[in-house]
Amino acid sequence: MAKPLASIVSAGVTRFGAREGVYARELFVEAAQEAFDACPNLSPARDIDGLFVGMMSESYEHQAHVAPMIADWLGILPVPAFRTEAACASSGVAMRCALYAIQSGMHDVVLVGGVEKMTNLRTASVTEVLGMASDYPFEQWHGISFPGIFALMATAHMAKYGTTEEQLAKVAVKNHQNGTLNPKAHFQKSITIGDVLSSRVVAWPLKLYDCSPISDGASCIVMTAPKLARRFTDTPVHIVGSAQAQDTIGLYERDDVTSMNVTRIAARKAYEMAGVRAEQIDVAEVHDCFTIAEIMAYEALGFCSQGQGGRLVDDGITSLGGKKPVNTSGGLKAKGHPVGATGTAQACEIYLQLTSQAGKRQVDGAEIGLTQNVGGSASTGVVQLYRRGD
Ligand code: COA
Repeated sequence: MAKPLASIVSAGVTRFGAREGVYARELFVEAAQEAFDACPNLSPARDIDGLFVGMMSESYEHQAHVAPMIADWLGILPVPAFRTEAACASSGVAMRCALYAIQSGMHDVVLVGGVEKMTNLRTASVTEVLGMASDYPFEQWHGISFPGIFALMATAHMAKYGTTEEQLAKVAVKNHQNGTLNPKAHFQKSITIGDVLSSRVVAWPLKLYDCSPISDGASCIVMTAPKLARRFTDTPVHIVGSAQAQDTIGLYERDDVTSMNVTRIAARKAYEMAGVRAEQIDVAEVHDCFTIAEIMAYEALGFCSQGQGGRLVDDGITSLGGKKPVNTSGGLKAKGHPVGATGTAQACEIYLQLTSQAGKRQVDGAEIGLTQNVGGSASTGVVQLYRRGD
């Protein structure tokens, strides 16, 4: 297997959900404090030499220029601080920038995270803000929102491959079940297929329980050059593959909307970089912003062949206890989706899994993990591969 690109030595994540009475900056500090408390050998003000923050929108709190603000609240001024925006992949892309920083040799120990405080706005306004990540003249102007865009992918997938509403519902049932085992999850109640199928239609075939919720939350990881990892922990997790790809901003410009090209391309590159095959992944966190997105992720990541994603969830392969558990955290569906926080929250879950700290949702003996983060209608795709440190 390939040499590590960087190492994760600690991680922290807030409870996700409607977090009233706090600002995004406070959520970020809460996540960072958890990571700092878990890493007593780290002295944040002395050791951290860079901050990377993923955040999608200024509109929720009317606050731009968030990188220095968060550095200040963390007490790590004057370290260089960067903010990345890539819609729901904002912190997945922050991780990529942090990797560049470490690989360049200009940074040794960086804090990488993401945050979003979405519930300040009502659902209609959140829908409009999120919609800014789609094409303005040809999508936003015509009134289509992200549930509608993913509904188009779902109907095309159903027509081409026979994927069913029940299979979509099973993704939600699985992820809600995993959410009951995650005390930080937005939703911690199990649901049935009947609950999903009878829930109100948002954009057919996607119903309430096919959608990720509107959440507040933050997450972060402490990332170091591999040679420094042991200074901070005996149990590092190494990042061994990382790739990113882009597609058109508008879904309408694509020849085939049943396949997630950015994930397929990024996965191929990341597998090659790491010297890892899809079959070797022990645990994965994928971007289930809508249930169809998880099925399309299975296919693009090579967990099954194109069109067979529904079968994987039918057969329980991706359930906890199955051959390839996916979204043990509850995924975006149940853990929640504070969009800027999602990419690094996925990395936090894989860190917990590979260091055997995932509690009731632990995948026994997990050694190799994967995260797949997507922005917009899969206009940005990031795939990262992780290995338990030896
Ligand atoms: N899944 C399950 N339950 C949900 C939910 C979801 N996604 N969203 C809301 N609920 C629950 C609430 O907890 C509440 O339950 P309660 O009555 O027991 O308290 C109830 O449904 C009503 O919640 P409300 O906030 O009024 O729903 P809403 O109609 O305003 O919003 C959606 C529902 C699906 C429209 C909203 O969650 C949404 O837009 N999700 C997609 C977000 C998105 O696009 N993210 C980016 C992806 S690219």
